[in-house]
Amino acid sequence: MENEKGEDSSTFKMGNSAQERSLPYVPDCYIVPPCYEPSDALDSNFEILPTIDVSRLRAGDDERRVVLQDLTLACQHLGFFQIVNHGINQNILDDALAVANGFFELPAKEKKKFMSNDVYAPVRYSTSLKDGIDKIQFWRIFLKHYAHPLHRWIHLWPENPPGYREKMGKFCEEVRKLSIEIMGAITESLGLGRDYISSRMDENGMQVMAINCYPPCPDPETALGLPPHSDYSCITILLQNLAGLKIFDRTAHGGSGRWVVVPRVEGALKVHIGDHVEVLSNGLYKSVVHKVTLNEEKTRISLASLHSLGMDDKMSVPYQLVNDKNPVRYRESSFNDFLDFLVKNDISQGKRFIETLRIKD
Ligand code: OGA
Ligand code: NI
Repeated sequence: MENEKGEDSSTFKMGNSAQERSLPYVPDCYIVPPCYEPSDALDSNFEILPTIDVSRLRAGDDERRVVLQDLTLACQHLGFFQIVNHGINQNILDDALAVANGFFELPAKEKKKFMSNDVYAPVRYSTSLKDGIDKIQFWRIFLKHYAHPLHRWIHLWPENPPGYREKMGKFCEEVRKLSIEIMGAITESLGLGRDYISSRMDENGMQVMAINCYPPCPDPETALGLPPHSDYSCITILLQNLAGLKIFDRTAHGGSGRWVVVPRVEGALKVHIGDHVEVLSNGLYKSVVHKVTLNEEKTRISLASLHSLGMDDKMSVPYQLVNDKNPVRYRESSFNDFLDFLVKNDISQGKRFIETLRIKD
């Protein structure tokens, strides 16, 4: 299929995508259907998003109890909250964003060393959800790599830009410690105690880093950086250099929902509840549907750290949360099951992993 610019508009393969080549127009295959609301008639910049002060989780039992109540509300309502006073030094955050940006600025040849379409690969560079298969393409370039245990994976990471391994590695370690602490608070808020999952995560949990780059887009009203989706993880901790992430508040407008902008707040990190915490809570906490919108001038970088149980360790509904009124609502699954799902399904079309786990009443 040739368009008026003489380009094959049916597919743009990785290494040759429109966003990598900074094409001055948006090819047809990047134009998303109106139901994805690329330009967001409904959103609002004035939304106050729930914020959890992590220092108050560390301040003693009474203080912690109050914060856990806020956490419960945030997880039930949005499946999303921001965290502040988490103790990770601003330099570590800035350095990680800087080396990520440095990686994407490398010559194409250097980045293509990591190019892979294999979703099981521990390190891969790509530009599509499934190369040559996606019906719709997105204006994103990414590097994904495993990060825990660090010594097992770090030698596979890019050596360039200089300092990438050291600075990204430091960030990953700090974020991972925080993820264990947040998971402890989440399971405690569910009445399961602090160690219910965090001890399993600490032992053999997975940490997958998605290092995302969204170059300026010539027509940000028509394309997206990422389509609406939820993460498979227990939780995802995210750092962004610019606003662009939007989350879906499904309870707004009497249940029809609306998109909410997540502002950039200096030093704050964002936490997404993922599908595996929805399962862990037997549906009490909801994984947040989110998407990424684009801008015309600036390159946006985000670091998404996805935390889950081990590769084959199954997340299932705890018996403590099951009774006559609350039957088991989800089948058990692992990170590997998610990867198998990814191979078989076109998530560019909105198919969600969590829907394959839900047990119908
Ligand atoms: C993701 C994701 C959001 C962002 O990588 O799963 O949702 O802001 N990223 O890049
Ligand atoms: Ni996501």
